Amino acid sequence: MKKSLSGIKSTGIPHLGNYFGMILPAIRLQQSHETSYFIANLHALTTVRDAKKIREDTLKVAAYFLALGYDTQRGSLYRQSDVPEVTELSWMLSTTVSLGDLFRAHTFKAARDKGEEGELNLGTFSYPVLMAADILMNDADVVPVGKDQLQHLEMARAIAKRFNFHFGETFKEPKELIQESVATVPGIDGRKMSKSYGNTIEPLASAKEVKKQVMAIVTDSKGLEDKKDPTTCNILALYKLFASSVEVKEIEDKYRAGGYGYGHAKLALLEKIEAHFGEARAKYDALLKNPAEIETALQEGAAKVRTVASKILGRTRAACGMVP
Ligand code: ADP
Ligand code: TRP
Repeated sequence: MKKSLSGIKSTGIPHLGNYFGMILPAIRLQQSHETSYFIANLHALTTVRDAKKIREDTLKVAAYFLALGYDTQRGSLYRQSDVPEVTELSWMLSTTVSLGDLFRAHTFKAARDKGEEGELNLGTFSYPVLMAADILMNDADVVPVGKDQLQHLEMARAIAKRFNFHFGETFKEPKELIQESVATVPGIDGRKMSKSYGNTIEPLASAKEVKKQVMAIVTDSKGLEDKKDPTTCNILALYKLFASSVEVKEIEDKYRAGGYGYGHAKLALLEKIEAHFGEARAKYDALLKNPAEIETALQEGAAKVRTVASKILGRTRAACGMVP
């Protein structure tokens, strides 16, 4: 059976972009793949300086997976830092990576452009190497991610290839799995939905909070009676993620005819979100009241993954002459 692996940082609460771009495709892959998914708290550490927040967000992100139906009997869910093999592997890989490639990496460039001294650290610079280690340490065949991770996946492949070239066949070359229809989910302001832009809809937040986020979707200033352009509307871009093509066409027609307001469209979207996530929200709330259950799943996941990771680490150590 092919292996699917992916990670998500514990830098906040998951949003619709994470859900459609990564979480949902990752969970669906359980039907055809062996799966290992993890909460990338070591990666989160490159930007977050608050231990309590990292700790809590790690549990919340894990609760998202569990509440949305990820089956931890069939696959693993783990906390990145619970599998320390990854940091040793990351070091060995780093010795084959050129500085030029790291200077071209998006994460590094974004941190440099942001100009926040604290985020421009060595961890941010070597971020793609640790990510390659996450993937290669699991012998992953496919990595379900959103489009923004494509460059990281290309780097992971190049790193595997380079290591194999120097030290003999050691790693599989992983492939990204990007679903084009949801490759980049827009945020409530039309930019890419991202925790760092504060433009998110968090589907498992309270109904009241979700309503507030939906009502804050930015539109142009056309009034109720005006005819509207369905091709440029942020509400419709999100509605399309949930609705059938017939339902989408219905609203598009109403936009073109006039007499249908953005407020109506927002309520239609809200209804879809509630119908889609209502059940998962109840499970999520229950899990957060019982964090020991989440922790047990994470510990079991780490134990399973460490068996594989230590084997691959052993193979790598031998390949590059680290054992007698
Ligand atoms: P963020 O950009 O909010 O910090 P992460 O970097 O933690 O999110 O992303 C976790 C996963 O979710 C990655 O696979 C990423 O590609 C995917 N993802 C994040 N935002 C979006 C989006 N707006 N559309 C589609 N996928 C996304
Ligand atoms: N860099 C990814 C993100 O920002 C998170 C991540 C870390 C990851 N390691 C990974 C994703 C390995 C896939 C595979 O979303």
